[in-house]
This record gives sequence, C-alpha cells and structure tokens, in this order.
Amino acid sequence: MHTLPIKLLLVVFSIPLLLSSGFSFAEQSFVDTKTGQPIKIESGLFNTEQAKKFMNTGENPYNGNAEAIATGKKHYQTYSCAQCHGAQAQGQTAGGLTGPRYNHSKTATDKGMFEIIWAGTNAGMSGKGKGVMDPSNHSNGLSPDDTLRLMAWIRSQGGAAK
Ligand code: HEC
Repeated sequence: MHTLPIKLLLVVFSIPLLLSSGFSFAEQSFVDTKTGQPIKIESGLFNTEQAKKFMNTGENPYNGNAEAIATGKKHYQTYSCAQCHGAQAQGQTAGGLTGPRYNHSKTATDKGMFEIIWAGTNAGMSGKGKGVMDPSNHSNGLSPDDTLRLMAWIRSQGGAAK
C-alpha cells in the first residue's frame, strides 16, 4: 500500500481524466509534453504563496510584477535559456518565446509554458535548461517559484498569457 502524498495526489488528479467531463478540481494536473503523461511534482515544492496560487489556478501571479521579473531575468541567464532563445527571448538557435505564434500552442498559456520549461519537449528542449531533470530529485535546478519568475520575465518581453 502506497501512502506517499504524491501517490494520493496522482489518484486525485486522475479522477477528472477518467470522468473526462467538465468536472475539475482546484489543483492543476501538469502534463509532460513529451509523453502526455502527468508530471509528478511534489506539492511541497510549491512553497511560496505565488507558487501555491499557480498550483491552484494554472495562472502565473508574477505576471507584471517588476521584482519577480528582475529575478526571473537572472534565472533566464543562469539556466542558459538565453544561449538558445536569445538575450531578449527573441529567438536564436531555438525559436523566440515572445509569441504570439509558438511551436506548441500551449506555450501561450502559463500552465503550458510551465510544463515545457519543467519537463522539456521531444524536439530539443530539455527540462529546466540546465540538463535534464533527475526525476527522483525535483528539487534540483529551478524551483516552481523560480520558474514562475522566469516566465514572468519572458511574458514581459511581449508574450501574452491567456
Ligand atoms: C540547448 C538549447 C536550449 C536551451 C538551453 C533552452 N531551450 Fe527552450 N527550446 C529549445 C528548442 C530547440 C525548442 C523547440 C522545441 C520544440 O519545438 O519542441 C525550445 C522550446 C522552448 C519553449 C516552447 C516554445 C514554443 O514555441 O512553443 C519554451 C517555453 C522554452 N523552450 C523555454 C526555455 C527556457 C525558459 C529555458 C531555460 C530554462 C530554455 N528554453 C532553454 C532549445 C533550448
């Protein structure tokens, strides 16, 4: 019998999928772009008020927040995003992140962009920039809060969240 909270969360998250109706829970279920499977992120990693809010709504509370945008820009540089996506997220070897057109339409939403940054894609985008994430240790690299700040910076460059 598994008693880990994460297992419980997975069960809870799978209910709306099983029902596949308009029925939904407050918490977001994050989807791995590579596999279509749920991304299992320990809820304890959502350890700031803003990250918790994002977990409940799928919307980034840091959008438009100047302080978060400033730290987000540092994360964008530290995690090598700039090397592939350009210093202003305008695109370089990889495409631009400012929209409105994206390779993955879900990038236009905060939840979708988060999923891509967290877990990567099959076409050259590795999870979290700094190497592929060790699935047994989600606490390495960008935290959910860091990722949301980074996203707020990207959005400040012109991409609108829907
Ligand atoms: C080694 C180069 C590389 C690095 C470093 C990198 N990316 Fe990417 N990224 C890519 C490529 C290539 C794609 C296109 C993948 C695809 O279409 O599936 C991509 C796609 C994306 C997308 C989806 C864009 C769309 O059009 O839908 C987002 C968002 C993104 N990257 C954000 C980031 C962030 C944030 C970082 C830093 C944490 C980062 N990337 C680091 C290469 C990189």
